[in-house]
Amino acid sequence: MAAQKEKLIIFDTTLRDGEQSPGVTLNNEEKVEIARHLSRLGVDVIEAGYPMASHGDFDAVHRIAKEVGPLMEGREKIGRPAVIAGLARATPGDIKRCAEAIEPAPLKRIHCFLATSDIHLKYKLKITREECIERGIAAVQLAKSLCGDVEFSPEDAGRSDRDFLCQVLGKMIEAGATTLNIPDTVGYNLPEEYGELIAYLKKNTPGGDKVVWSTHCHNDLGLATANSLAGVQNGARQVEVAMNGIGERAGNTALEEVVMAIHTHPDAFPVYHTINTPMICRTSQLVSNLSGMIIQPNKAIVGRNAFLHESGIHQDGMLKNKTTYEIITPETVGVFNESLVLGKHSGRNAFKDHCAKLGFPNMPDAEFQKTFEDFKALCDKKKKVSDGDILALLSNQITSG
Ligand code: KIV
Ligand code: ZN
Repeated sequence: MAAQKEKLIIFDTTLRDGEQSPGVTLNNEEKVEIARHLSRLGVDVIEAGYPMASHGDFDAVHRIAKEVGPLMEGREKIGRPAVIAGLARATPGDIKRCAEAIEPAPLKRIHCFLATSDIHLKYKLKITREECIERGIAAVQLAKSLCGDVEFSPEDAGRSDRDFLCQVLGKMIEAGATTLNIPDTVGYNLPEEYGELIAYLKKNTPGGDKVVWSTHCHNDLGLATANSLAGVQNGARQVEVAMNGIGERAGNTALEEVVMAIHTHPDAFPVYHTINTPMICRTSQLVSNLSGMIIQPNKAIVGRNAFLHESGIHQDGMLKNKTTYEIITPETVGVFNESLVLGKHSGRNAFKDHCAKLGFPNMPDAEFQKTFEDFKALCDKKKKVSDGDILALLSNQITSG
C-alpha cells in the first residue's frame, strides 16, 4: 500500500527575509495587505518580520498578529488561521521583543536563530562551539517559556560541521524547539548535498524523529528551488519560501516554484500542499507592485512570458491541443486575463465585485471611491484596462493610504 502523504508546511518569509532585499522598503500598511493576501493564499506560517530591527518593524509584526492572525477567509480547507512568526537572534532582548510583537495572534511562533558554522563563530560571533551551545540552550528555553511554538535555525548550516550540528540541534530539541530549520544561508549547497544533509540530521540528531524539519535555501547559485525540493524528498516537512523568490542577494526559494513543482508532480513527493493556487499570480503582482521588485518576464510561473507562446510551431501546437506546450494551465495559478475586463461604462458594483475577485474585498468606502475614480480616469486614457492595471491602482491606494 502506498505510504500516506504528509502535509507540507508552507512558511512564507516574504515580509522578513524577502523584505531584506536590497531596495525593498514596505510601509506597515503595505505589509498588512501582503500578509492578508498570504493568509488567503493559504500559507501555513507568515513570518511577519524581525521585531527588534526597529519600532516600525515591531509595529508591523504586532499589527499583522492582531489583524491578520485571526483571519479564516479562504482557509476553509486548512481549518485554521495562519501561524504568525517573528524572528529573533539568540538574545533575551530579541526574544522578549518578539514574544510581545506576536502576542495578539491566536497561533504564534518565535523563530530564533544562531550561527553554527566555524566561519561565523570565529569571525562574526567570536565565540567557541561550547559557547554557541550554551547561548542556544538559554535562548530556546527563554523562547519556550514565552511561546509554545519555537523554531530554531542554525544559521549557515549549509557550511557547518554535520556532527556539531547534530549536537547543537539535539540540545535545542531538549530545550523545547519543535521545528528545526536548516538554512543554506549563502546558497552554497548542491541539491544532492542539501538533501543528504537533511536526511543525515534527521537520522543522527537525538530526538530528531520528534520535530518538524524545515528547508531554508538561498538562490546564489540558482539552486534554491532544487535544494528545497531535495530537502522535502529527504524528510523535510516545512519549506521556507518567499513570493517571487525575493530576499537577500539572489533571493530566497520562490514559493510559487516549490508549490507548483509539487502540484505538477504529486507522485514524486511524499507530501501534499494546501495552497490556493489561483491566488498565486495576484499575490505575486501585489508583492511586486508594493515592493518595487520587478518580476523578470521569463520568471517561472509568475513571469509575464510564462504562459505565452511565440514561435509558429508552438502556436500551431497550442491551437491543436494545449497540452503540447503547456504543463500547467494559466488558470491554475490565476494568470490575469490581459483582455478588456472592465471599461468606462462599467458601474460601481461591477467594479467592486471585480476588486473582491482580485483579492480586495471589503475596501473602506473612501479607498474604494478613490480607486473607482482612478479606474475611470484610466479608462479614458487606455483602450484596454487589464486586471494587472486594476491591481496596480489597488496597490497605489494601499501605498498612499
Ligand atoms: O538565511 C538565513 O540563515 C536566515 C536565518 C535567519 C533563518 O534567514
Ligand atoms: Zn535567509
